Amino acid sequence: MSNTITVPSSQALERILSLEIVRVTERAAVSAARLRGHGKDKASDQAAVDAMRRELNNLPIDGTVVIGEGEMDEAPMLFIGEKVGNKGGPKVDIAVDPLEGTVLCAKNMPGAIATLAMAEAGTLLHAPDCYMDKIAIGPGYPKGVIDLDAPADENIIALAKAKGVKPSEITAILLDRPRHADIIAKVRKVGAAVALISDGDVAGVIHCAEPKTGIDIYLGIGGAPEGVLAAAALRCIGGQMQTRLVIDSDELRKRIETMGIKDAKRKYEIEDMVKGDCLFAATGVTTGAMLQGVKFGKNVIETETVVMRSLTGTVRRVLAEHRQLEKFHLD
Ligand code: FBP
Repeated sequence: MSNTITVPSSQALERILSLEIVRVTERAAVSAARLRGHGKDKASDQAAVDAMRRELNNLPIDGTVVIGEGEMDEAPMLFIGEKVGNKGGPKVDIAVDPLEGTVLCAKNMPGAIATLAMAEAGTLLHAPDCYMDKIAIGPGYPKGVIDLDAPADENIIALAKAKGVKPSEITAILLDRPRHADIIAKVRKVGAAVALISDGDVAGVIHCAEPKTGIDIYLGIGGAPEGVLAAAALRCIGGQMQTRLVIDSDELRKRIETMGIKDAKRKYEIEDMVKGDCLFAATGVTTGAMLQGVKFGKNVIETETVVMRSLTGTVRRVLAEHRQLEKFHLD
């Protein structure tokens, strides 16, 4: 009797792609890491974009970037609407941030990553590269314990109750920005701790689902592409997230209309931003709480990537040693 497990062909391809996308974020991370600490945020971002585009175009997909680096007229970035892949496979939506934490990379500070998410065409939120208001927690809580529209202190108290601890045992993570002064004051008023990050809120949200980080809740405004990427990760590993686009100009209002968003004030849940199964990958550029950064050895480059698949909830950490260095197109 055969022990062979038959995997439906669509799932088999998705399975293969889950490993293929590792190569994409690895290459982007290595290219960016080459410029770590050089103070050149645009150059390192461009290096990551070029590498990511090159690798995406090798994949057997008919892909469209639905949220990412900006608008077409801002080319040569991986712009929203850009077609990628060799067309030899399924139609997919892609969310990208080839270098998440450009300033972290330029200053060689912890936490820069190269990241992307992929899902069936029409299932990832198609939105501009604007701001997004976000709240997120990890898995294991009853649905609705937090609410984007509730004051931060109320969310902390509700979360502490659901966790069975005092508010003083809750830690909230936020981007260190003046716009968050009121939220920070409310979090501290109820005795909770605030962890401030200078950049990198994809990892900031994911930390809520990683008990080792001690982070319980993400609060505040960051980028919309980063919001969709984080939602894809939480769709794989569990957790809750609510968001709303920050539409603060007529130009943006018009832009979201052309993208099919009718209600500018809509509150999104994870399932609205990532409507079906997805893949998520991130490779460390500089070492941070989530990933090791790229290490350049003698004739070998080492990378660490986390890759997730929502269909199975599998999370893999891939420690790679690369010896065919010419594949990285580094001079
Ligand atoms: P980039 O490296 O892509 O610029 O993003 C860094 C980042 O810190 C994101 O993690 C975050 O979502 C966004 O910038 C916040 O924007 P701002 O720096 O304008 O507050």
